Amino acid sequence: MKFRLPQSVYNPISYAGAAIALISTFMFVFLYVLASLSSIDHAYTGIVIFLIVPAFIILGLILIPIGMARTIHRQKRLGKLPREAFPILDLNQPRHRNAVIIFSIGTIIFLFLSALGSYEAYHYTESVEFCGKVCHEVMHPEYIAYNKSPHARVTCAECHVGEGANWYVKSKLSGLYQVYAALANVYPKPIPTPIKNLRPARETCEECHWPQKTYGKQQRKSIYVLPDEQNTQWGIDLLMNTGGGNPALGNNSGIHWHINPDIEIEYITTNEQRSVIPRVILRDKKTGEETIFEDKDNPFDEENADFVERRIMDCIDCHNRPAHTYDDPSRFVNVAIAAGVIPTSLPFIKKTAVEACMQEYETTEEAMAGIREYMTTFYQENYPDLAAKYKDDLEKAIAGVQDAFSENIFPFMKVSFEQYPDNIGHMNSEGCFRCHNDRHASDDGRVITKKCVSCHTIMAQGPVESMTFASSQEGLEFQHPVDIDGAWKEMGCYECHNTPPLDF
Ligand code: HEC
Ligand code: HEC
Ligand code: HEC
Ligand code: HEC
Ligand code: HEC
Ligand code: HEC
Repeated sequence: MKFRLPQSVYNPISYAGAAIALISTFMFVFLYVLASLSSIDHAYTGIVIFLIVPAFIILGLILIPIGMARTIHRQKRLGKLPREAFPILDLNQPRHRNAVIIFSIGTIIFLFLSALGSYEAYHYTESVEFCGKVCHEVMHPEYIAYNKSPHARVTCAECHVGEGANWYVKSKLSGLYQVYAALANVYPKPIPTPIKNLRPARETCEECHWPQKTYGKQQRKSIYVLPDEQNTQWGIDLLMNTGGGNPALGNNSGIHWHINPDIEIEYITTNEQRSVIPRVILRDKKTGEETIFEDKDNPFDEENADFVERRIMDCIDCHNRPAHTYDDPSRFVNVAIAAGVIPTSLPFIKKTAVEACMQEYETTEEAMAGIREYMTTFYQENYPDLAAKYKDDLEKAIAGVQDAFSENIFPFMKVSFEQYPDNIGHMNSEGCFRCHNDRHASDDGRVITKKCVSCHTIMAQGPVESMTFASSQEGLEFQHPVDIDGAWKEMGCYECHNTPPLDF
């Protein structure tokens, strides 16, 4: 017996639809198996397999009934078919039976493939490859910085989306706009922060780091290189009073006291960057007591403020760069020298390297060429003999500076330490000193302290080969690496250390 289907199927549109659906389904299965077996880069294959090919399958499937409906409609008009509103389904007719069998089997296969496809599409659109690489230019700085952060194995979505369908849908909706913005090249450069609709840290960070779990102190050793001829290396060992919030253990103080579940700190900021904080309100949740700290030099003046935001302090107010830290040239050159990536055989290597990075560059390529040019010229003009003697070291230094630059400064997106200051600390921007500046005082005279030892103790400091070690838990008094006549006692470090802005 010949295999027949209802007359209405035999039309060009349904044929085309069936062909498109069949070919796309084969493509889907073939590409899916191929991608699972090989280790090809998933950033773009994912778009094809999970977004474009399924769109064609669905298009093909939709064309089949459209073609059928048109045929039926025409036949009704010509009087070849009765004018009933719905087609009559008669399973005793082989044509109808075949159509039902094909439709049922097709639906089962389609549902199975869409379950598989949507599961994979879900994972794919939540993957680091998708977020970090697809719109590669836009997310390039974040992706590079992320890969050298302590969170390089935590996916973008774990911080930016988190658990639950609600945020998933929200992120996909705003994602649609972002895809459009990237394609139409209308996205802002740099991407503005703080991110307004960032999911609260309680629902992201605290999934992995819960406040009760941080206590004790952490050691932080750093090596700094001075911009002098000898490239003097200066070490500072800080014991960070990280502390925490586990009242049961009596660990109820220190830096993480701000996130202790028993208290709440609200602050008022008058600029979008949240760097100007005229008022801080501290609430003790147990006693209900409230303390208001007002900046006495810059009190809160609601009427004359252009911008006002009230915010309950959480992780992001200090850790605003947990996965994307952009260091300034002084710091990234220090790190590269301490790691041995930049050799110190040439005089003034720190100074030259930092200056080479601070020139005006429009693109990374220009910067790479400019850094080479600047450093080579400096040594050829000032130290021709040493430049010849340490030729290999100079090459190594140039490569080291270029690498460090391209991991921290991104001219194309206008991304650098300047646009995205780190709120931890107080070297390049106010950071903790936004509140801890001895100016914020309560009515009864309590001030948010600027005392160095409340946050950290200096356990050792000095030139690396002859460091001075503290003889007790009290630590040492800070010694500034170069003589600035005690200016650090009065001024904020950031007032001298905020590197001049880069001109992109
Ligand atoms: C550990 C958590 C975490 C991870 C993982 C993470 N981010 Fe972020 N991201 C943040 C925080 C926090 C901010 C800063 C929010 C602010 O200042 O308002 C941020 C900011 C951003 C910004 C705004 C611009 C900027 O540089 O600050 C972009 C874009 C971004 N992230 C993309 C990504 C991408 C892409 C990935 C994965 C490759 C990723 N993030 C992974 C926490 C994370
Ligand atoms: C999916 C789990 C996860 C999430 C979500 C997460 N982290 Fe982490 N975090 C980690 C892991 C793992 C480490 C590395 C621990 C280590 O190296 O010992 C880490 C390390 C850190 C560190 C220490 C960094 C260092 O230099 O050693 C900080 C600070 C931190 N996270 C803050 C945050 C903040 C803030 C957020 C939210 C924006 C966040 N984390 C979200 C898992 C997570
Ligand atoms: C008042 C500012 C501040 C707030 C708020 C804050 N932190 Fe921290 N955190 C710090 C500082 C400062 C350090 C020490 C940094 C260092 O040693 O480099 C630190 C260290 C850490 C570390 C690594 C050391 C450790 O103790 O494990 C983690 C993880 C961390 N913070 C997570 C968080 C999370 C999660 C939140 C929010 C629930 C949070 N922090 C809120 C300032 C803060
Ligand atoms: C409100 C808390 C707080 C106060 C007060 C404070 N610091 Fe710090 N300090 C920090 C934090 C947080 C860091 C950054 C740690 C990090 O980068 O992980 C830091 C970093 C430093 C560093 C290392 C610099 C760097 O970024 O590499 C030095 C040196 C230092 N502080 C000295 C001082 C001195 C001197 C004082 C007193 C005038 C002082 N601090 C007051 C919190 C504080
Ligand atoms: C939004 C304002 C604000 C910011 C920003 C801020 N703090 Fe605080 N901090 C406070 C307030 C308010 C207190 C309580 C002052 C009091 O009780 O007298 C406090 C107290 C502290 C204490 C003493 C806690 C105790 O009782 O042991 C430490 C340590 C501390 N902060 C460290 C830091 C560090 C480090 C940073 C930066 C990473 C920072 N703070 C940023 C508002 C802030
Ligand atoms: C009056 C201006 C001034 C103030 C205030 C100041 N510094 Fe400096 N600092 C300098 C100069 C100038 C140098 C020399 C080298 C340079 O330019 O990096 C320097 C160098 C350093 C270095 C070594 C070089 C490097 O790689 O960063 C450290 C560390 C440092 N200062 C820490 C601090 C800290 C911490 C504070 C605040 C407690 C502070 N400084 C306040 C002017 C200042």
